[in-house]
Amino acid sequence: MPLTDDLGLVHKFVPAKAGVPHPVTLLLLHGTGGDENDLLPLGKELWPGAALLGLRGKVLENGMPRFFRRIAEGVFDVEDLKFRTEELAQFIKAASERYDFSMERLIAVGYSNGANIAASLILLHPHYLAAAVLFRVMMPFTPDIVRDFSNLSVFIGAGERDPIVPRSQPEELAGIFESGGAKVTLFWHRGAHELGADDVDAAKKWLPEVKIRKRAGA
Ligand code: MLT
Repeated sequence: MPLTDDLGLVHKFVPAKAGVPHPVTLLLLHGTGGDENDLLPLGKELWPGAALLGLRGKVLENGMPRFFRRIAEGVFDVEDLKFRTEELAQFIKAASERYDFSMERLIAVGYSNGANIAASLILLHPHYLAAAVLFRVMMPFTPDIVRDFSNLSVFIGAGERDPIVPRSQPEELAGIFESGGAKVTLFWHRGAHELGADDVDAAKKWLPEVKIRKRAGA
């Protein structure tokens, strides 16, 4: 399990388990204060045997890693977010060559800050992912144009009593993805911002329904 930052972001890659047919790769994006190891157990739970690619955000807020700068809680530095999203896109491209996976079989799994940059990636570069599981996601920004999301499936796990993410935000984001043709499932967790067992169960049941190409271009 090498820990390298020579592709531009500190990350950890765990290859798919031998014998798993047509393995997918899960791109794991942590919440504020997390790192590349944080979501590895979640990835193993969501898709046993999948290849795992855990990332560490390179922006530090009081020593806590994030994927992009914010001005205050829930108020994003959109210029930095877009810049970091481009960096993430470049990383994915380089990592797909280094670790030999197809972006057509890449599924982002993000929590909070990590879900927000995954949503930004979808809005700007929808063809970099096959699907995304976004826990406690917010509207990263309002896009100028709605791109073609018809090859994408998105699971949004929102908190009914989330003090950080107003109810309207995951709903608005789901609407934007749907208007571009994505297949969207919006799941409401009974609690707040924390990730619950109900979220994980719902995402685990949803993932096998996602249509993912058996191999690149197929
Ligand atoms: C953010 O991106 O700032 C999140 O929505 C909140 C957090 O990560 O703490």
